[in-house]
Amino acid sequence: MSDVLVLMKGIEKTFPGVHALKNCDFQLRAGEVHALVGENGAGKSTLMKVLTGVYTKDAGHILYKGQEVEIPNPKAAQDLGIAIIHQELHLMPHLTVAQNIFIGREPRKGARFVLDEKQINKDAQDLLDMMHLDLDPKARVADLTVAKQQMVEIVRALSFNSEVLIMDEPTSMLTGTEIDELFRIIRELRSRGVGIVHISHRMEELKQISDRVTVMRDGRYIATVDTHAVTIDKIISMMVGQEIYETARSLPLETNKVVLEVKSLSRAGVLKDISFQLHRGEILSFAGLVGAGRTEVARSIFGADPFDSGQILVHGNEVQIRTPNDAVKYGIGYLSEDRRRYGVMPTMDVETNIVAAALDKFLGSFGWVNKASSRFAAEAQVNDLRIRTPSLEQRVRYLSGGNQQKVVMAKWLVRDCDILICDEPTRGIDVGAKSEIYKLLNDLAGSGKAIIMISSELPEILRMSHRIIVMCEGQITGELTAAEATQERILQYATRRESIARN
Ligand SMILES: Nc1ncnc2c1ncn2[C@@H]1O[C@H](COP(=O)(O)OP(=O)(O)OP(=O)(O)O)[C@@H](O)[C@H]1O
Ligand SMILES: [Mg+2]
Repeated sequence: MSDVLVLMKGIEKTFPGVHALKNCDFQLRAGEVHALVGENGAGKSTLMKVLTGVYTKDAGHILYKGQEVEIPNPKAAQDLGIAIIHQELHLMPHLTVAQNIFIGREPRKGARFVLDEKQINKDAQDLLDMMHLDLDPKARVADLTVAKQQMVEIVRALSFNSEVLIMDEPTSMLTGTEIDELFRIIRELRSRGVGIVHISHRMEELKQISDRVTVMRDGRYIATVDTHAVTIDKIISMMVGQEIYETARSLPLETNKVVLEVKSLSRAGVLKDISFQLHRGEILSFAGLVGAGRTEVARSIFGADPFDSGQILVHGNEVQIRTPNDAVKYGIGYLSEDRRRYGVMPTMDVETNIVAAALDKFLGSFGWVNKASSRFAAEAQVNDLRIRTPSLEQRVRYLSGGNQQKVVMAKWLVRDCDILICDEPTRGIDVGAKSEIYKLLNDLAGSGKAIIMISSELPEILRMSHRIIVMCEGQITGELTAAEATQERILQYATRRESIARN
């Protein structure tokens, strides 16, 4: 067919100990949104990295507009007009939005090639305007929220005038309106004839945005189907190769013992008068839009961010938490939303990562780490959470995105904290593993742990929580019990700006 942009046939890729792609096929047409789905570790990112020259294939063929091509490096992909937004962000935090968009190809002026700051800011503004994005070209990327950083990546990829755009989980860090915004951009690109590959674990998105779906499982190509011709359940069963069981629901709260109390926590311009109690056995969710201050509350409690005033009480005693080490000492664990920066040590192996927060538990008589018991603990986690890795010695950077997330989870489980703060615990996690994590959180709560869950997925919040606190612009705007909570009520509180509330 003439509208076929990309044809991949019989692609093979092996990493040490991992046969990541097995005789894999893929086809992308011009002007279509093509969803690529599969469980964590199925090979989605690897297949797209082969197409964009990040990895070279061991065997197979790639045809671009009917011509066989070799794509030995990312530059070759770029020259063909194939752009990718990777699963993990690749921005330079200390540079501005504009500098990041044009990195490596900045317009220069004059004989001495001075960077033309004015010009790139203007060019960036034009691109942002075209996509109706509210971002300041001069803002430093480090100061942006994760969601905004994601937008910068998208703008950069689009700025190449690409004919193929691959997005590896672009929505996993975005919330409602931002996703709508992204989909608007995607539809616009589609109407201009761009072929778009959309990788996502949010199944409901497939129906919304894609024209066709390709399913992968265990490094193999399973099938490509027209989206309107299949149900989500059918796609999921193709992904996992079996029917999936119903996800867990939260159990009734047994005790009323306060484990953590936060009183009037404030930080100028960020948090205002945050007060709440967390009980033994409770799953307390924090809902709100991106930027509402939920992560900031978590980071303050964990000692990762300072606060100006307020008190934190653990088991009724006021505690001073100035660093994450202090927090760990008081039995608080934090599963970060940004696993690249705070969650994993990518160059260390799986075992080291898992036992990292609990090394004292594995010390032998002479202060040495007891290798056998640390190994045993790590192995148990790998089995329980079904972390897909060739061995405990594998460096975490080589695991798939979802499996890295599971490693972070394992780390805090080994630590055995009384209070566990989970910031977007299922981001980037496939449907099967998601229900495992829900079950795990339920079991933890059932065994008397207290859990704070921050999530941008309302169905997840409604399903999992005993109680829900809603934040907007750094303040708590509402609190709901599980029985009272509905999507509408949460959204109402989440958008209750101070100015509106006063009227
Ligand atoms: N550079 C690498 N070195 C070693 N193994 C790798 C490397 N990259 C990927 N793998 C392995 O290849 C397999 C496929 O990984 P891939 O990242 O493609 O999965 P994925 O489908 O994108 O999963 P996720 O949904 O979790 O992102 C995994 O088992 C992963 O551990
Ligand atoms: Mg991936």
